[in-house]
Amino acid sequence: MSTHPPVPMVDLKAQYARIREDVDRAVLDVLASSQYIKGEEVARFEQEFAAWCGAARAVGVANGTDALTVALRAYGVGPGDEVVTVANTFIATGEAILLNGARPVFVDVDPVTCTMDPAQVERAITPRTKLILPVHLYGHPADMPAIAAIAARHGLPVLEDAAQAHGAEIGGRRAGALGHAACFSFYPGKNLGAYGDAGAVVSSDAAFLDKVARIANHGGGVHKYDNVLLGTNSRLDTVQAAVLRVKLRHLERWNAERRAVVEAYSRALADVPGVVLPTERAGCRSAWHLYTIRVPERDRVQAHLAEKRIATAVHYPRPIHLQPAMAVAGGKAGDLPVSERLSREVLCLPLYAELPLATALRIAGEVRAACAAVASA
Ligand SMILES: Cc1ncc(COP(=O)(O)O)c(C=O)c1O
Repeated sequence: MSTHPPVPMVDLKAQYARIREDVDRAVLDVLASSQYIKGEEVARFEQEFAAWCGAARAVGVANGTDALTVALRAYGVGPGDEVVTVANTFIATGEAILLNGARPVFVDVDPVTCTMDPAQVERAITPRTKLILPVHLYGHPADMPAIAAIAARHGLPVLEDAAQAHGAEIGGRRAGALGHAACFSFYPGKNLGAYGDAGAVVSSDAAFLDKVARIANHGGGVHKYDNVLLGTNSRLDTVQAAVLRVKLRHLERWNAERRAVVEAYSRALADVPGVVLPTERAGCRSAWHLYTIRVPERDRVQAHLAEKRIATAVHYPRPIHLQPAMAVAGGKAGDLPVSERLSREVLCLPLYAELPLATALRIAGEVRAACAAVASA
């Protein structure tokens, strides 16, 4: 048994300890204001987050899944339509498409960045294709210039699933300003996380975001009981907006601290036989939401680390085209060889801004020992 304290995947208590006074005050201010739905905190957060992304405007919604679902609805995606996306993602990407009555058309991913392989996109486009939905997985931006070029040839919008990519960049432009619009999640463990569920749609297309805002608020028009579109209740909670405003001020520094952990891992693991380390494509900056290595015998390496009380995670153990919930999309084993292989090999190591570099080095040492033990067994 290890004498070291257990290492979690993320440590939200450690983060809260750094900002406690400001968060407590912001939450108490909302409670005192009695403005619990919408109001200034939400509007300010929407402005500040859009500016942070380099986009004109953001609309806060209840969570990242709703951000995708409502955005697709605002594009008019519905029955008979197809959306080209990836299966190497969280289930929500596919759910949002199916919940709108459309069909996800899954393409494979690039094995290095684990994001949409542009070479596969063109042949997945049919006359029914309504848009392209790449995912910036683990915080690494999808190859947006190549995807945008294909989309432009076919007159299709590109919607970014940026749920894991707060601060990801291509050529100095951030996620949120890389496609026509972008959907963010502020699930607590994300780089920018609320203290509950929250999400946002970001874009510089004012008319589109206006539609998103209406759909997310019962299709509302100018007056409260003026319901012009079929909508839903998916508003960003005011308390969450207040928390997010405090945290947004720290996001740049926290992302830099994550990067320092990543660099420590990558230096320490550079020569471990059989292990493939995550990298950044030229011109790209990952938001480093997750540090995901590829390792043969993944489950045995994970078990070794668990014995040392080091938490790890597998994002994701099954590509979503093989999830029973996606069966109507008609996916079968063998369709997407890279995604399917990644699901057997990927292993995410603990990564958060407060993770001491000495702990990262110890974890790397345990990964090395685990790989050696597995190789010699
Ligand atoms: C890639 C991706 N898309 C969508 C979502 C959905 O976000 P939420 O959990 O806020 O609904 C997530 C969240 O984990 C995600 O990782």
